Amino acid sequence: MSRRKIVAGNWKLNGSKDFLQNIVETLVSVNDVDVVIAPPFPYLEKASALVADLNGLSVSAQNVSSYSDGAFTGEVSVAMLKDIGADSVIVGHSERRELFGETDAIVAEKISQVLKFGLTPILCVGETLEQREQGSTIEVCSTQIKSVLDVVGAENFDNVVIAYEPVWAIGTGKSASSAEAQEVHASIRKLLSESLEGLGKKVSILYGGSVKAANAKELFEQEDIDGALVGGASLKVEEFNEIIKAAG
Ligand code: G3H
Repeated sequence: MSRRKIVAGNWKLNGSKDFLQNIVETLVSVNDVDVVIAPPFPYLEKASALVADLNGLSVSAQNVSSYSDGAFTGEVSVAMLKDIGADSVIVGHSERRELFGETDAIVAEKISQVLKFGLTPILCVGETLEQREQGSTIEVCSTQIKSVLDVVGAENFDNVVIAYEPVWAIGTGKSASSAEAQEVHASIRKLLSESLEGLGKKVSILYGGSVKAANAKELFEQEDIDGALVGGASLKVEEFNEIIKAAG
């Protein structure tokens, strides 16, 4: 895959059938910007059907099982997501890592499963406030990415989308500055190209963490920021549309 502009809306534990219908009817389409909506599991099939004939709009799951099948009550496999028409899967969101104990090893296994079935994984990485204050932001992100590279192989990594999401910026209203985000994005591209020549130029890297209409444009103007993974603002259709337009 080559670098694409992507604006993805992660609804987290929010939404309804009516909200889904309304947002699909209201979202703007902007040339060269891929828009992704990530509703909770129960709405994915309907979402896939609604966007099937729409250009530039696709559907992502927010999570997936690291298992392919078997006695794993409550789990959802990549094959099932593919079956109902999902295109991508958010993997390793900090809320999954922190609240549900997802380790780097589990995240890597999930990414491997997603790639195996031809869906696009959106790999989330990012540091806590404490880690940033200790000056270990780039080391933390690099470790999270390397653990996936080691499992899936750099030669298969160009189908991965990365979302850099500083944990301290998620849902806090306090975004990283465009310069702070750019610095991390550039270091991620460097890491990728050190793993495989040219890889850094192929992978789309999104920023996430309190992205809103007011700060989207400045973030998107940064050389190494290809778009955004948006939480709260993706639930406000007008504002999400402004963010999509800012990416165009
Ligand atoms: O997945 C999205 C991120 O967690 C960002 O959430 O835009 O509400 O800060 P937020």
